[in-house]
Amino acid sequence: MEKKQRESWGSRMGFIMAAAGSAVGLGNIWRFPYMAGSNGGSAFIIIYLVFALVIGISVMVGEFAIGRRTQLAAVGAYKSINKNWTFAGVLGVLSAFFIMGFYPVVGGWASAYILKSFTGLLSNPAAIGDVFGAFITSSVEPVVWMLIFLAANILIVAKGIAGGIEKAGKILMPTLFALLILIAIRSITLPGAGAGLEFLFKPDFSEVTGQTFLAALGQAFFSLSLGMGCMMTYGSYLNKSENLPNNALIVTLLDTSVALLAGIAIFPALFAFGMEPAQGAGLVFVVVPQIFAEMGSLGVVFSAIFFIALTVAALTSSVSLLEVVVAYLMDQRGWARVKAVYTAGGIMVVTGILSSLSMGTLSGFKLLGVGIFDFFDILTDKIFLAIGGMLLAIFIGWFVKREDLEDELTNGGTVKFGLFNIWYALMKFVIPLAVLVVAVMGIISIEQTGLMIFGLGVIVVLALFSKKL
Ligand code: PHE
Repeated sequence: MEKKQRESWGSRMGFIMAAAGSAVGLGNIWRFPYMAGSNGGSAFIIIYLVFALVIGISVMVGEFAIGRRTQLAAVGAYKSINKNWTFAGVLGVLSAFFIMGFYPVVGGWASAYILKSFTGLLSNPAAIGDVFGAFITSSVEPVVWMLIFLAANILIVAKGIAGGIEKAGKILMPTLFALLILIAIRSITLPGAGAGLEFLFKPDFSEVTGQTFLAALGQAFFSLSLGMGCMMTYGSYLNKSENLPNNALIVTLLDTSVALLAGIAIFPALFAFGMEPAQGAGLVFVVVPQIFAEMGSLGVVFSAIFFIALTVAALTSSVSLLEVVVAYLMDQRGWARVKAVYTAGGIMVVTGILSSLSMGTLSGFKLLGVGIFDFFDILTDKIFLAIGGMLLAIFIGWFVKREDLEDELTNGGTVKFGLFNIWYALMKFVIPLAVLVVAVMGIISIEQTGLMIFGLGVIVVLALFSKKL
C-alpha cells in the first residue's frame, strides 16, 4: 500500500465551512423556494424539515463515519468494507457526474445575472420573464457562462483540499449568510409581506400527495449533499479528533436555515408585489429581479448582491461534486489530482454544453421523454440520491459492525454520542423502510415512467457488474 499522507482539512472551521458550503447551494436558494412554491408552501416545508432533521442528519452522521473510518472516498469506502457494496459508491460517482450535468448550467445563469443586474435587466420589469426565456434558450451566451463557472470549479479543485476548497468556503460562506440576511430584512419590511410569511409557515395539507413526499425527500438529500458519497468523501479528509455527530448537526442546521432564509427573502416580497408563488424553475431568475426592479436604483444593487450570493453558494457546492469524481480517480485509479480534475472536468464540459443547449437549440432532443437537462436533474433528485441514502442506511445497519460504528462515532470512546442507539435503529430499520415507502409512493405516481425504470435499471446493472471498479 502506498504510504502517502492523505490530504486533510486545515482546521475544524475549515471543514464545517466546506461541508456547509457543499450543502448550501442552488438547492437552497434556487430549488427550495420554487419547490415550496409549487408544492403548496408550508406543508411541503414541514415535510421537508422532518426529512432533513431526522433522515438527513442520520445519513450525514453515517457518511462522515464511513468516510473517516476508511479514509477513502465513496467507492473505496464501500469496497474496503464489503466488496459487494462497491456499486453503492459507484452510484455516487455517477450521481456526481449527472448532477454536474445540469448544476453548472444554473451556476452559469446565476453568474450571468450578476452582470445583467447592471446592464438593464431591471429597467423593463414587464420583460424580465421574456429576457430570461430568451437568455437560457440561446445557444452561445449561457454556454459561455456555464464554461466560466465550470472553469472556476476546475481551478479550485485542482488546488486540493486545504488550499482550494477549504479556503474558498471560509471566505465565501460567511459572505453568503450576510447577503441573504440583508435581503430577507428588506423583504419582510415591505408593506404586504405578511401574506408571504403565512404562505411559508401556516400549514395547509390539502395539496399533499405521494409526489410531495418524494419531492421533499429528494430535496432533503439534494440540499444536504447526501446519498452520493459527497459527505463520505469530505469525511475521509477529516481528522480523528472531530466529533462527527456534532458536525453533522451543525451542517444540517446551517443548511436548513439558509433554505428557510431564502424562502423568507423571496416569498414576502413576492406576495407584497402580488405575484404567483408557483413559477417553477424560473422563480429566482424571473421573480427576484422583478421584485428588485420595483425598488428603483437600490434594486440594482440588491439584485447584484443576490446573484453574487447565488453564484457563491453554487460554486462551493459544485466543487464538492467534482471532488467526488476526482477523489475516486485518485483513490481507486491512483491518478494525480491535476490529471483527475482535468479529465473529469473535460467530460463535464461536454455534458454541460449538451444540457445548456437542451433549453433551446436541442430542445427537440428527448431522452426517455425529457430533455437532457431534466434527464440529469430528475434522475438524480428523484431516484439516485434517495436510493443512495437508503443503500447507505442498509449498509451501515446490516453490513458494518456495530462496535466499529460506535468506536468511530465516539472517537474511540473519548467523546459521548448519547443518541447512538436511536441513530443505529434509525439506520437499520426506520430509514430504509421510510425511504422505500416514499420512493414507491412517489415513483408510481410520477409521469416519467420510462425514466424511472431506466434509473432503477442502472442501479441493478451497477449492483451486478461494478465489483471491479
Ligand atoms: N447540496 C447542494 C445544493 O443544495 C447540491 C449537491 C448535491 C452538492 C449533492 C453535492 C452533492 O445545491
